[in-house]
Amino acid sequence: MMLTSSSSFSPDVLACQTVLKQDYREAMSRLGAAVNVITTDGPAGRAGFTASAVCSVTDEPPTLLVCLNRGASVYQAFERNRVLCVNVLAAGQDGLSNLFGGKTPMAERFAAAAWSVGLSGSPMLDEALVSFDCRVRDASLVGTHDVLYCEVIAIRNGAAESGLVYFRRAYHRLG
Ligand SMILES: Cc1cc2nc3c(=O)[nH]c(=O)nc-3n(C[C@H](O)[C@H](O)[C@H](O)COP(=O)(O)O)c2cc1C
Repeated sequence: MMLTSSSSFSPDVLACQTVLKQDYREAMSRLGAAVNVITTDGPAGRAGFTASAVCSVTDEPPTLLVCLNRGASVYQAFERNRVLCVNVLAAGQDGLSNLFGGKTPMAERFAAAAWSVGLSGSPMLDEALVSFDCRVRDASLVGTHDVLYCEVIAIRNGAAESGLVYFRRAYHRLG
């Protein structure tokens, strides 16, 4: 089976065979994405970071993926705990996204919101749009990141109605 048709590409597209990192990053800023705070707790301690690189893999078994930079301060905690919770942020939670996305000390990140403990032991954000509590089943290494394949073991829907998306390096309300 053919995946592409060579006749439909314009010369401009063909000229882009070597894609520079900065061009890729600029292009990706046009790909709007939900904003999530990914949390963990366990033997390696409590940690959390902001991620937009989250998507569904399959619903049987319910599985999603999270891309985590191996250079992040939280990396060891996620690698050792092997559980996590994907807390999808609601409209207006830009501040929380920035706290978990920056160089802020961990205690300060968690002090900014109310949390419960999920089945996996990971912190669940009380005011999340929805939370997916997960066990990390597998991981693959791609460039600077680990792709974590996570089986969803519990879901909690929140009361918020509007979502938060990150698009062109800014936050936007959805719905
Ligand atoms: C909107 C937004 C989206 C982000 N998406 C990701 C992501 O998908 N994966 C990732 O590893 N880091 C992502 N980051 C960066 C991490 O949140 C950040 O590196 C993390 O907080 C670790 O920082 P630290 O090393 O200071 O703890 C994102 C940051 C922001 C603000």
